[in-house]
Amino acid sequence: MTQNKILIGVSPSVKLAKSVARKAGFKYCRLSVRKFPDGEFLIRFPLELKHKRIFFLLSLNNPNEKITELLFAANAAYERGAKEITLIAPYLPYMREDKEFHKGEVVSAKVFARLLSNSFDNLITIDPHLHRIKALSRIFDIKTKTISAVPLIAKYISQNVEQPVVIGPDEESYQWAKSVANLAGCEATIFKKHRFSSRHVKVTGKISYDIQKRNVVVVDDMISTGHTMVEAIRSIRKQGARQVQCVCVHGLFIENACKRLKAAGANKIVCTNTIQGKLAKIDVSSTIAHAL
Ligand code: R5P
Repeated sequence: MTQNKILIGVSPSVKLAKSVARKAGFKYCRLSVRKFPDGEFLIRFPLELKHKRIFFLLSLNNPNEKITELLFAANAAYERGAKEITLIAPYLPYMREDKEFHKGEVVSAKVFARLLSNSFDNLITIDPHLHRIKALSRIFDIKTKTISAVPLIAKYISQNVEQPVVIGPDEESYQWAKSVANLAGCEATIFKKHRFSSRHVKVTGKISYDIQKRNVVVVDDMISTGHTMVEAIRSIRKQGARQVQCVCVHGLFIENACKRLKAAGANKIVCTNTIQGKLAKIDVSSTIAHAL
């Protein structure tokens, strides 16, 4: 066990945190957080942090309260003499707000990156949604490491899906869908998406393979409300597919997304455990431990 490295799991990511700590050989503890009736936090460290290298692990879906919690914890850890503080955020939020889409809008990706850069020495994350901002180093002032779950997803498809065809539901999914298909040794088609609002998108695309005899897998970095996937599934079904499953890295599943996907015709939905949940069947703990 590496005695001067402590991995601190923050709820609700403790299961993944524990598993990463065990595989990396780090000492593990769970951050104790109490919430007062007015919503204020009381944070307590169960271990001595002086001269230690601290790794907080917390996935930042539904981010706003978690960010407050983390900033308090990181600042307090420095006060207690921690030597270096790393944030492991398997899911990194705010990355989709990467430009001023409408006049006056805040580019949240940059603001968020500055906030974290002021409180941590390093950041480790999995498949951040980088599109117009090409690398985390463009917006973060600290060391960042990006891990990819693509090989794990490709392995899942190779082992579980016969004769797969991969579909990327929009242009932004290209980097995931194409790489997954290459590693799984199958074809990929990338659809086009027009987004009207958070809950209203239109997805179009033509598949030129005989999908009646193949198993279609729609691959994206994340499923949030599920509307992107729903539109893609509808189009794929209309084009004659009999089997469609959805696979993503980050399963946020907001507002009954799963129900919506099943109603649209998804036979199966699978994601990694960057965010804990019933559909998180692809385990990223060894990949994170390896990166540490
Ligand atoms: C954006 O391009 C992302 O890759 C996802 O396609 C998107 O965020 C999914 O959101 P939703 O599930 O709400 O359509």
